[in-house]
This record gives sequence, structure tokens and C-alpha cells, in this order.
Amino acid sequence: MKKIFAIAAAALIGLPSAALAVGGIQGQCADCHTMHNSEQGQPVAMVGLNATTPSAQPIQNLLRMDCVACHAQNTGNKTVLMDGGSIIPQVYHSDSSDLAAGNFAYIDTLGSTRKGHNVSDLFTGGDDNAKHYGSPPGKYYDHVHAPYFSDVTVNADGSETINAAFSKFTCAGAAGCHGTRSNLLSGTTNDNGTTTDTTDDFFEGTRRTGIAAVSGAHHNSYDGKKDAAQNTVGLHDGAKVAAGYRFIPGLKGTGNTAARWQNVDASSHNEYFGAQVGATNASCNSCHVPGVSGFGISARMSIDSTLLVPNQSMSGFCITCHGNFHSTGLETGGTNQDRNPYNGTSGAFLRHPSDYVIPNRGEYVAYTAYNITAPVARTTLLDAASPTVTPGTDLVMCLSCHQAHATEFDGMLRFDYAQILAGNTASQNGCLACHTTKGVAPDLR
Ligand code: HEC
Ligand code: HEC
Ligand code: HEC
Ligand code: HEC
Ligand code: HEC
Ligand code: HEC
Repeated sequence: MKKIFAIAAAALIGLPSAALAVGGIQGQCADCHTMHNSEQGQPVAMVGLNATTPSAQPIQNLLRMDCVACHAQNTGNKTVLMDGGSIIPQVYHSDSSDLAAGNFAYIDTLGSTRKGHNVSDLFTGGDDNAKHYGSPPGKYYDHVHAPYFSDVTVNADGSETINAAFSKFTCAGAAGCHGTRSNLLSGTTNDNGTTTDTTDDFFEGTRRTGIAAVSGAHHNSYDGKKDAAQNTVGLHDGAKVAAGYRFIPGLKGTGNTAARWQNVDASSHNEYFGAQVGATNASCNSCHVPGVSGFGISARMSIDSTLLVPNQSMSGFCITCHGNFHSTGLETGGTNQDRNPYNGTSGAFLRHPSDYVIPNRGEYVAYTAYNITAPVARTTLLDAASPTVTPGTDLVMCLSCHQAHATEFDGMLRFDYAQILAGNTASQNGCLACHTTKGVAPDLR
């Protein structure tokens, strides 16, 4: 009876009909919300990883838990079932297997910043890799962006000292991945009127991050096909965020409805979207959607600015921060190394291609059975998981080799680089899923 009701409700609010949408927030409001952050005179709000003492400071949207306290409960379960029926996907846990993006706990348990994205909410100080990065590897336009993710002091001579690298790298919003990015909260003011300063144009604003960057998305959440529209200018809108794959507005993808948030085997996995489109990354607005409100530090950081997802693909999303690492093979040459997506062409690449069609020739023709250690992207978004790979149509992408949060392997790889050739008998995992003849001597193939 409950199920029939859920299907009818889905039809009423116009969710995609091709694949049945599943999931969503259920249960008592009090499972997740507190009206005053006070029960019998005591605060209840839990903040951060492994929180034990409630915080007197209430959490945005009247929540009982913040992002991390809810999604990183650090138990033995990769999903947590709440009393009222909501299921919370866990990004930090000690379960024996992980959700599709991996598990941030590896960074801590394996003691290596190289296992993944060192989100500052989980790892104080973030990953400075001996201060060698300063910014995401491969980032575009260093002169306008650096060091965006860090706490920086601008010195008298204009040079910058990084006090804490990646100290601002966060889950959602500005300097984060989910939700509405590159956006200010409303209430931004031009301070010229209130200070003696008349020579410049200072605005005072707060960047939209954390709950504010996803607000309104959770109660619109469902899993299944997300054939999102490209992200455009406009005030933050939770429904627009929820329409994007994994709360990334503008990103297309199909979440596994059989085993939510998981890549289990060839016929039970998420489906990723890809598009082989070259040379679109060169201009500022191939990532930015400038605001039109006039209220902001710049048109690209105002109350209605945001970022789009280049090509609406998973690789396009990654390159909003790692621009140089993208190559579809269609770009033309460039010389400026801080904004050069030209990675060569087939047969002589300079960097590994992504959003590039797996050729229907040579060793690649043998990759036809989907291998979850080397997922592919589809140029047509599928309704549900397909167990087949089609060389000549499907694409290699960033997530063919990486997972999005963290893995047990260096470089955030989804497979053990050191083990794919272990014992000299090549397993068909990782690189070898596509490069099917590599690792085996010609006479032994
Ligand atoms: C399983 C947890 C959970 C339950 C149960 C839940 N909420 Fe929420 N709610 C959230 C989270 C997380 C947010 C903040 C992030 C967001 O909106 O995406 C939120 C945000 C909201 C918001 C502000 C954003 C918006 O969508 O308008 C309202 C209002 C709200 N909840 C009302 C309710 C009511 C009423 C109930 C009970 C019928 C309820 N919630 C039950 C998790 C929950
Ligand atoms: C909001 C910006 C942002 C986005 C979007 C982003 N990254 Fe990153 N990434 C970073 C930053 C900052 C670092 C360096 C700090 C760190 O390693 O935590 C990084 C580091 C990495 C590393 C190196 C990890 C290591 O320490 O060896 C890999 C691999 C990576 N990202 C892959 C991806 C992939 C794949 C995607 C898309 C799913 C992606 N990134 C999306 C910001 C981003
Ligand atoms: C490949 C994608 C990409 C391109 C191209 C790009 N940016 Fe950005 N830019 C970003 C990302 C990602 C951020 C961080 C946004 C966030 O997290 O809120 C950012 C942030 C900014 C910000 C806000 C910074 C702040 O501190 O307020 C400005 C301004 C900006 N970019 C200007 C530019 C300009 C000017 C250009 C062209 C010269 C440009 N960007 C090209 C991806 C890009
Ligand atoms: C009170 C608990 C709670 C808090 C706080 C919360 N979430 Fe969630 N989140 C949930 C639940 C429950 C779901 C599963 C919703 C569903 O079933 O579709 C979810 C789902 C998600 C998803 C997956 C959506 C999808 O495509 O399936 C993302 C991404 C996400 N949350 C990000 C965040 C971020 C980022 C924050 C903080 C800024 C946050 N959440 C805060 C409970 C929470
Ligand atoms: C999902 C499929 C896929 C996976 C996984 C994959 N590759 Fe590739 N790789 C390709 C494709 C497609 C090309 C481009 C082939 C062409 O057009 O010549 C390529 C090209 C290359 C090239 C450059 C060849 C040239 O033409 O310059 C090297 C080297 C390479 N891959 C190594 C690796 C390694 C090492 C791994 C594992 C870390 C890996 N690949 C994983 C699909 C894949
Ligand atoms: C064919 C597999 C493959 C694909 C596809 C791939 N990577 Fe990587 N990536 C690797 C490997 C392997 C490393 C480890 C270092 C190395 O071998 O270069 C790495 C390292 C990285 C690093 C860390 C660099 C550093 O300085 O430590 C980042 C960031 C990164 N990749 C991002 C991306 C992004 C973004 C994409 C998609 C545009 C992508 N990768 C596509 C295999 C891949």
C-alpha cells in the first residue's frame, strides 16, 4: 500500500517516468530538525566528525546535525537508516565496502593525504602536500584563482603567503563541490556608504557554503535518471540543485535505484554522462555564470552567480577545478600552461584523454562487458544500468580511473596501480579493462 502511494506521488510531482525514481526524505521532522536547538533546556545540535557534545550554536535550516555529523557518522555502516525510514548515505565509515564515491576515512586510517580529496571539514588544515600544490592540480587561470582554497595573507609587496593550504576546501558551495557554487548569500552590501573609503568599490558579503548551498535540495531528493538542465544564472534554488546528479546542479547522471549510491557489479551501478566536445574551456564563462544583480565582489561572485558544468558531463564537472587534465582529443594547441586543455591527439596524447570515445579498434574492441573498476561514460544518458560497453560510442572519463571522494589507493585511484600486474598475470581490471593487451607479452596473449 505504501509503495503504491509512493509511485502515485512520484507521478503527481512530475518525476521522470522512464525509470522509477526511488528514495527521498521520510519520517518525522524531529528525526532531523530541532525548532529551537533546545530540548528540556539542553542544546541538541551535533556538529562535525565524531561529535559527542551538543553545540549551543544552532545549525542552519533548524537541523539537529550539520552536513558532516549527518553524513559522516563514522559507524560500521555505509548507509544509516533513521527511525522514520530515511536512509543517509555515509561518506566516512568503517564498513567493509564503500559507496560509489569511496570513503573519506581512508585518508585518516591509512594516514595519507594522497588517498583523496582532503575536505577541511574532515581534516583540519587540509592537504598541503608539503605546500607543493597551493591549488588543485591542473587548475586553470592561476592568476585569477590562486590560491582560492587556502587561507592566505596578502603581503605588502603584493605577494601571497599561504597560511593553511586548502583550509577552505569544503563539501558544498564556494570552494566546494555540491550545491550552488560561486555564490554569495543575500545581504551583500556596498560598504562605501558606511566607511571613509571612497576610492574603491568594496562589497561585504558572505560566500554561500555548507547547508545554505544545498538548502531546499534534500526534500526534493530522489534517485534514478537525472537529465538535468544546464545550470544558469539565478538565485539559489534547492529544486535546481536536486535536479542535478548528486546535488551538482547542471550535471547529468543516473543513480543506481537497485543499490542506491553504489557500483556493485556489471548490471548494478550508476550511469555517468559524457560528451566529446573540444576546446570549450578557454573562456572564463565556460565555467562561470556571472550574476546580473550587481550585488557582489565581482559579477562571478554575486548573489545570483554560479558555475555551470561544462558539457554537463562528469569529467566536465571535475575540470571546473582541474581544467588542464581534460582532453577529448579535439582541442587545438595552446601555449599558456595554466590554461591549456590541449593534451594531444589520438596516438600521441600528452595527458590521458577524458570524455574521449574508446576506439572501436585494436585492443579496445575487447572491452564490451562493463567492469566496475573502469566505468565508462555514455553520450546518451541511460535510464538504468547497462552491463555492456560499446567501443566506438562510450567514453573514458575521470571516474574511469578515480573515485570522487577518497579510495584506499594513492592518487584517489579506484584500483591498486601496483597490483594490476601482480604475479605477472594481468587481471583485466583498472587500466587493463580498456588496454586489454597491455601487461601480457605478445607471445603469451
Ligand atoms: C532525514 C532527515 C530529514 C527529515 C526527516 C526532515 N528533514 Fe527537513 N531538511 C533536512 C535537511 C538535511 C535539510 C537542509 C538541507 C536541504 O534543504 O537540502 C532540510 C531542510 C528543510 C527545510 C528548509 C529547506 C526547504 O526545503 O524548504 C524545511 C522547511 C524542512 N526541512 C522541513 C521539514 C519538515 C516539515 C519535516 C517533517 C515533515 C522535515 N523537514 C523532515 C532533513 C530532513
Ligand atoms: C571544487 C574543486 C574541485 C573539484 C570540483 C574536483 N576537485 Fe579534485 N582536487 C581539488 C583540490 C583542492 C585538490 C588538492 C587537495 C587535495 O588533494 O585534497 C584536489 C585533488 C585531486 C586529486 C589528487 C588526490 C591526491 O592527493 O593525490 C585527484 C585525483 C582529484 N582531485 C580528482 C578529481 C576528480 C576525478 C574530480 C571529479 C569527480 C575532482 N577532482 C573534482 C579540488 C577539486
Ligand atoms: C575551468 C573552469 C574555470 C574557468 C575557465 C574560470 N574559472 Fe573562475 N572559478 C572557477 C572555480 C571552480 C571557482 C571557485 C568557485 C567557488 O568555489 O565558489 C572560481 C572562482 C572565481 C572567482 C571568485 C573568486 C573569489 O575569490 O571570489 C572569480 C572572480 C573568478 N573565478 C574569475 C574568473 C575569471 C576572470 C576567469 C577567466 C579569466 C575565470 N574565472 C575562469 C572555475 C573557472
Ligand atoms: C540531517 C541529516 C542530513 C544533513 C545535515 C545533510 N544531509 Fe545530505 N542527505 C541526507 C539524507 C537522508 C539523504 C538521502 C536523501 C534521499 O533518500 O534521496 C541525503 C542525500 C544527500 C546527497 C545525495 C543526493 C543524491 O543524489 O542521492 C548529497 C550529495 C548530500 N546529501 C549532500 C549533503 C551536503 C553537502 C550537506 C551539508 C551541506 C548535507 N547533505 C546535509 C541527510 C542529510
Ligand atoms: C575506460 C577506458 C580506459 C582506461 C580504464 C584506461 N585507459 Fe588509457 N586510454 C584509453 C583510450 C580510449 C585512449 C586513447 C586511445 C587512442 O585513441 O589511441 C587511451 C590512451 C592511453 C595512453 C596513450 C596512448 C596514446 O595514444 O598516446 C596511455 C599511455 C594510456 N592510455 C595508459 C593508461 C593507463 C596507465 C591506465 C590506468 C592508469 C589507463 N590508460 C586506463 C582508455 C582507457
Ligand atoms: C586513465 C586513467 C585516468 C584518467 C582517465 C584520469 N586520471 Fe587522474 N590520475 C591517474 C593516475 C594514474 C594518477 C597518478 C599520477 C600519475 O600517474 O600521473 C592521476 C593523478 C591525478 C591527479 C593528481 C595529480 C597530482 O599532482 O598529484 C589529479 C588532480 C587528477 N588525476 C585528476 C583527474 C581528472 C580531473 C581527470 C578527468 C579530466 C582525470 N584525472 C582522469 C589516472 C587517470
